[in-house]
Parts: sequence; C-alpha cells; structure tokens
Amino acid sequence: MKVFLFAASLRKGSYNKKLVRIAADLLSEHVFCEVEVCEFNEFPMPMFNADIAEEFGIPDSIAKLGNKIQEADAVIISTPEYNGSIPGTLKNAIDWLSMLDPNPLAKKYVCLIGASDERLGGVRGNIHCRVPFHILGAYMYPNYFDVALSDTAFDEKGQLKDPKQVEKLNDILGDFLRFASRKESPFDVLDDFIGNRDFTRSNNANH
Ligand SMILES: Cc1cc2nc3c(=O)[nH]c(=O)nc-3n(C[C@H](O)[C@H](O)[C@H](O)COP(=O)(O)O)c2cc1C
Repeated sequence: MKVFLFAASLRKGSYNKKLVRIAADLLSEHVFCEVEVCEFNEFPMPMFNADIAEEFGIPDSIAKLGNKIQEADAVIISTPEYNGSIPGTLKNAIDWLSMLDPNPLAKKYVCLIGASDERLGGVRGNIHCRVPFHILGAYMYPNYFDVALSDTAFDEKGQLKDPKQVEKLNDILGDFLRFASRKESPFDVLDDFIGNRDFTRSNNANH
C-alpha cells in the first residue's frame, strides 16, 4: 500500500513536519507499506483565482501534488489549527486540487493528524478540515491523533518524548491502514445496505 504524507505547514521548525516524519517512520515498519513524505513547501502556489486557472491553467505545483495524491492508496496530513480551523494554506491547496480532472481526492482514504502548541492539539482544525475533503469525496478516517503543547512534546531529535503518545500514534496508524485496505469502502457497503429503500417519513407510517 502506497501512503503519501505531508505536513500542512511551511514553517522551518514546524511541529507538524516533525510529527509527519515520526508517522512515516512508524509506517515504514509495515512491510506492505511504501511511504512517501513531501514538504508542503515543494508545492508553491498562488492564492486561488479562477482567472489564473482560465488564463494560465492549473499551476504545475498543483498538478504535481495532485499526482502524488492520485498515485497513493492513502494520504496522511498533519495540520496545525489556525484560529480554530483549517489553515488557509491547506484550504487554498484543496481549492486548487478540486480543479483537477480527475479529482485526485475522490475515494481517497485520508487520515488527519496534527500538532499545536496549545492545549487542544489542533483537533478543532482537524474537524474543520474534514469538510472540504468530505465534499470532494475522500473517505475520511474517523479518528484523529493530535499533539497538544507541541513546543515541549518533542525532543531535540524531533522524536515524541512520551512513549505513550508514540504507542497511540502507532495504534491509530495501524487502524488507518486497516481502514484504507478495505476492498470496498464503508460507504459503498452502506449504499448496498440502504439501496433504494425509501426513508421518507410519509412512507414509514410508524415513525
Ligand atoms: C495565526 C495563528 C493562529 C493560530 N490559532 C491556533 C488555534 O486556534 N488553535 C491552536 O491550537 N493553535 C493555534 N495556533 C498555534 C499553531 O497551532 C502553532 O503555532 C503550531 O505550532 C503551528 O504549526 P507548525 O508548528 O506545524 O507550523 C495559531 C498560530 C497562528 C500563527
């Protein structure tokens, strides 16, 4: 299984970049996993403007990022939380990616993790991030892993100091791999189950 990871931060000393490296190392222990990590900085892009797309086409950086996602079976993004939500840089990239045909995020298994130097570890940002991915048809892994107080959570080698956190991250990654290796997505299974059944209230007299 090919797993593509990046941190949605451009900052040199980014905690999310550290977290994504740790996640990649843990994933590399799984023999069936082929892991690729990129820096978000490798994909510089303008602020989304439909005029740019019309006049110049989609930026090469977006085509490159889209290819990385397209080629992967699963994607893991470590993202900070900005003002309780998705960082503008990541949302901008998603908006550009949504212009690609085919849409590389459709039916892609995605797991969100994060690090923040505040107390909630960026989980609110992760929750907001789900929305555009979901709208683009990605299969979102339901769980999160977030490192709170990240300014003191990593040692000088960039490793998580608390072994319990490493264990939890490892468990979540293992679970995500199981989620992403389903032959049928849970959503297809749900479609089969629901089929053409009519759930309108008027046709279900007992409700
Ligand atoms: C403009 C701005 C807004 C932020 N808002 C939040 C926030 O709402 N919640 C939070 O947990 N951290 C917030 N932070 C802290 C970032 O999560 C923290 O700086 C984090 O380390 C950034 O990620 P990075 O280290 O990967 O670059 C904010 C930081 C900035 C610069």
